[in-house]
Amino acid sequence: MAHEVAAIPGDGVGPEVIAAAREALAATGVAINWTELDWGCGRFARAGQMAPDDMVEVARGFDAILLGAVGDPTVPDHVSLWGLLLPLRQGLDLWANLRPVRLLPGAPTVLAGRGADDVDILFLRENTEGEYSGIGGRAHRGLASEVAVEASVFTRGAVERLIRHGFELAAGRRGVLTSATKSNASRFGYVLWDEVAAALAPEYEGVRYERVHVDALAARLVAAPDSLDVVVASNLFGDILTDLGAAIQGGMGMAASANVRPGEGGCAIFEPVHGSAPDIAGQGIANPTGAIWSAVLMLEHLGEAPAADRLMSALAKTVLEGPRTPDQGGTATTDEVAAGVVGALGELP
Ligand code: NAD
Ligand code: IPM
Ligand code: MN
Repeated sequence: MAHEVAAIPGDGVGPEVIAAAREALAATGVAINWTELDWGCGRFARAGQMAPDDMVEVARGFDAILLGAVGDPTVPDHVSLWGLLLPLRQGLDLWANLRPVRLLPGAPTVLAGRGADDVDILFLRENTEGEYSGIGGRAHRGLASEVAVEASVFTRGAVERLIRHGFELAAGRRGVLTSATKSNASRFGYVLWDEVAAALAPEYEGVRYERVHVDALAARLVAAPDSLDVVVASNLFGDILTDLGAAIQGGMGMAASANVRPGEGGCAIFEPVHGSAPDIAGQGIANPTGAIWSAVLMLEHLGEAPAADRLMSALAKTVLEGPRTPDQGGTATTDEVAAGVVGALGELP
């Protein structure tokens, strides 16, 4: 039976990289029944809404969603993102945002003297609460006394399910779990976070757990990326650290992500880490690697592990041998990279 997958190409370079990812997926031979959703800033301009009121219900009807990017200079970013992507992550309870920060051979890292052997980190970002709870408000608008409150929310249940999953992932990898915290300045949220992590640690004897303040962790990501294996982080910390991670793995166009509910199934969202890149949108030169890698993660979610492995091999071969988009030092278009991946798939034994 074909998998039911929705594409939300979205805005800016979103449609360009999603077209490339769909081409690569088609070449794997996996049967996918696509539904294209026009949700995004174009729809906002036409209908005054980024997505229909029942978007979460609609999304639940699919096995997965492949999403490009959301955001256009004509719409305030908090309106576009809270009109589509963030309510979907929350509404589908996609509590785990998995972001592999792996430097593929051939990709240009910004770190001098570092290579592919030094960078293989899996970020596990909390994806439904924390600094992104969406709770808050403003009062006394326009007055000197104006106030804005943005509540950071940490619940024991959400912190525990996330960190427990981090321990499980670390147990299956190199056995190191690093928890990003800020429990020196924060007196409540990250203190709870640390307590939950410390209480779980004894259950995972094979995993070395360490608690690192996020500022120090940012420095370590650059200075000693080879010391990191699995990193668990709050919503905002995970967001910021993975853009730093993207730079280390060759640039924004390289990074992939999966918004999932580990062990629970249901519709999940796969998207490159980058945004709509208005500065290069429409030129056909966006790097589709992050989107194609996200498609690999989607194939794994769909239970298509052999096809996922094949597509990842073809993508890695293309990163190593080209063609490359300008951000990677090449002159190829998005479509040419997609064609390169399709060609590499065809050459696999
Ligand atoms: P961005 O990721 O869109 O761009 C940052 C830089 O990275 C730009 O120089 C851009 O050209 C480059 N870049 C991004 N993707 C690239 C690709 N595939 N190939 C080559 N270069 C690439 O981040 P931003 O400028 O902060 O945000 C632009 C818009 O996107 C905003 O509206 C923002 O809210 C939105 N955004 C959306 C998502 C999402 O939908 N998941 C993520 C981040 C930002
Ligand atoms: C990401 C993006 C989003 C986030 C924005 C666009 C709300 O930066 O997916 O990394 O912060 O989660
Ligand atoms: Mn981000």
